[in-house]
Amino acid sequence: MDSATFQKALEISNKISDDLKVSPTKYRVFTGDRPTGNLHLGHYFGSLKNRIKLQKMGIELYILIADYQVLTDHESFDKISQNTKELVIDYLSTGINPNDDKTCIFPHSYIPELNQLLVPFLTLISVSELERNPTVKEEIQTSKLKTVNAGMLVYPIHQAADILSVNANLVPVGKDQLPHIEVARLIAKRFNSKFGKVFVEPHALLSATPSIVGLDGQQKMSKSRNNSIMLKATREEIISVVSKAKTDSDKHITFDPINRPEISNLLSLVALMAERDEIAIADDIGNGGAKKLKELLIETTDNFLKPIRQKRKELENNPEFIKQFMLRSIDKVREEASKTLNTVRKFMNMEI
Ligand code: TRP
Repeated sequence: MDSATFQKALEISNKISDDLKVSPTKYRVFTGDRPTGNLHLGHYFGSLKNRIKLQKMGIELYILIADYQVLTDHESFDKISQNTKELVIDYLSTGINPNDDKTCIFPHSYIPELNQLLVPFLTLISVSELERNPTVKEEIQTSKLKTVNAGMLVYPIHQAADILSVNANLVPVGKDQLPHIEVARLIAKRFNSKFGKVFVEPHALLSATPSIVGLDGQQKMSKSRNNSIMLKATREEIISVVSKAKTDSDKHITFDPINRPEISNLLSLVALMAERDEIAIADDIGNGGAKKLKELLIETTDNFLKPIRQKRKELENNPEFIKQFMLRSIDKVREEASKTLNTVRKFMNMEI
């Protein structure tokens, strides 16, 4: 993604951020995650918290579970169903309200009308455009796939079908997903000019929170890097991961992200959860060293996760509630997506 495209997307995103507060009903927000496992604090502060906020603002919220997409980069598929349910529990236990009829959570494999849009959409993007997608390129490089399956190359088109099936106009994403939003915009534009105006071109809503660094103090928090605090962590699990976090030998705790990235990141995690300032927290610890800092991080995390754990337990004991909520969501999305598909069929002159 060139920097001019990024700058433009950022400018628009900032304008929309302001407008959201004034006209929440103008927006239909679409977000999605792959069901590859439980979520961690990085997910919470990077995206979940914002979704909860959007829901509270009265904005329509479509939360997609990209179960088909898992097949593009994972050899194993035995846990997709379990991971899907766990994702829903992660969403609801952290604060997404399932009784808000403006919000739905659904796996795309349950929406035939959405998947059918993929067929015409495939003809609107060239093979070389797919091969140039920087995010897909990187995923191919870092994945352990022996061969690149066609699904991997075309999943951004599938993602466009996700978004456009319900004509969502706003997609909260990190920078790495921007090329995919560009594909969705391009497909909307090309469809509209070839067949007639059906789709709105969705915009990215870029997150204000930079990505959350893991307990190694170096890399983005990620389950596969073993540097995460999971939202479902027990107190014992928190103690275990925090104890292993990297620190340094200077006993005087200071917030200095350049020279002391590990210590500073632990301070930032406390700051995010306690909603306090890093420097004030460092001052409180003073000469207490990494030991005191870790103790504080353990207590803060444990307190932060307590109500989430409680809610999780209630949900885990009520799988039927989760299922019914998802079925309601699926009904609603199918109704919307079939309207879109009917219009698409009409505009493509395929009615019988
Ligand atoms: N590609 C996204 C990811 O890897 C998941 C996703 C699929 C998505 N469809 C989407 C995100 C539509 C936003 C909108 O995390």
